[in-house]
Amino acid sequence: MTPKHLLSIDDLGREGIEEILGLTDSFVEVSARRIPKVPALRGKNIAWLFYEDSTRTRLSFETAAKRLSADTMNFSVGSSSVNKGESLRDTCLTISAMGVDAIVVRHRSAGVPWQIANWIDASVINAGDGWHEHPTQALLDTYTLRSHLGDLDGRHIAIVGDIKHSRVARSNLAAFTALGAEVTMVAPQTLLPPSLEGWNANVSHDLDAVLPTVDAIYLLRMQLERQTDALVPTLREYTDGYGLTTQRLAALGEKALIMHPGPMNRGVEICPEAADDPRSVITEQVANGVAVRMSVLFLLLGSGAEHEAGGLS
Ligand code: NCD
Repeated sequence: MTPKHLLSIDDLGREGIEEILGLTDSFVEVSARRIPKVPALRGKNIAWLFYEDSTRTRLSFETAAKRLSADTMNFSVGSSSVNKGESLRDTCLTISAMGVDAIVVRHRSAGVPWQIANWIDASVINAGDGWHEHPTQALLDTYTLRSHLGDLDGRHIAIVGDIKHSRVARSNLAAFTALGAEVTMVAPQTLLPPSLEGWNANVSHDLDAVLPTVDAIYLLRMQLERQTDALVPTLREYTDGYGLTTQRLAALGEKALIMHPGPMNRGVEICPEAADDPRSVITEQVANGVAVRMSVLFLLLGSGAEHEAGGLS
C-alpha cells in the first residue's frame, strides 16, 4: 500500500525503505539525462514550510520537485504572517486551502510533522523535526552506502559525534539497522542522550578502537548553534578524541567509506584531508539526495495512472 506521509523511518520498515531505494535507481538515471526532467508530477503542488535554517535539504527537495515537473510554493517563514503571530495550525490550514498535495516541513520542535498531518489532507514529509528524525537524510545515506557496499546485512557502521542533538543519528540508526547493519555510536558521555534504552546500537567512547573495524564512518556535525561546544572541554579536545584527523585517516580501512550529512565543520569533526579523501562519499550523498527525494515525492504523489502510463519517460 502506498504510504500517505513520510514522517519517520520506523513507519517504513525494511520493505518500505527497500521500495524507495529500488525506485531511486530510476531517478538516478533520470538525473543523468541531458534534460533531467520527467512529467511524472505535472499538476501536483508542493509547499515548503521551513521554520529552521536549511540550504541543502531545501534546495535538494526543490530540485527533486522540478525534475518531476511539480509546481511549488515557498512559504518563507522570515517574511510571512508568522511574524504577525499566526499559529502553525492557521498557517497550515491557509496553505492547505490554496490546494496543496504535499507539505515538506522542517521545524525546531520534535513532532510538528505529525501534528500537521492531523490538521490537513495533504501528504506531509518530515524534512527534520528538532532532534528527532530526518528520514530523507537517512534514505539518501542508506542509498549511498548500498551503492558501494551492496547488501548492508552484517556491515558495521560507526556514527560519531554529537548523537544527543542529532536527528540524523536517530533516523540513520533506524534505517541502517532495519537493513541488517550493526551500528556503533561513538561519542563522549556528554554528547550521548541521557538514556540509550531502546536504541539498537553499541556504544563506545574509543574511536581509535572502533575505527579499524568499520565499513563506514559517519561523522556528525558538532551542532554549535545548540551549544554543543559547552558539552566538551574545548573543541580542540573534541577533535583529539573524536575527530577524523589525518592520523586516524591512516588507521581507517582501505575500503571504508567516509560520510557526513553536511554542513561540515572542517577541522572540528572532520579534517579537510578526510573530507577530500578518495574514500569520502560526501558529495555523492548530496547527489543521491535529489534522486531519493524524487523517489519519495513520486511514491507519495504519483497517481497510479501516470505510473503505468510511463510518467518517467
Ligand atoms: C542535517 C540537519 O539539518 O539535520 N543537515 C542536513 O539536513 N543537511 C545535519 C546537520 O545540520 O548537522
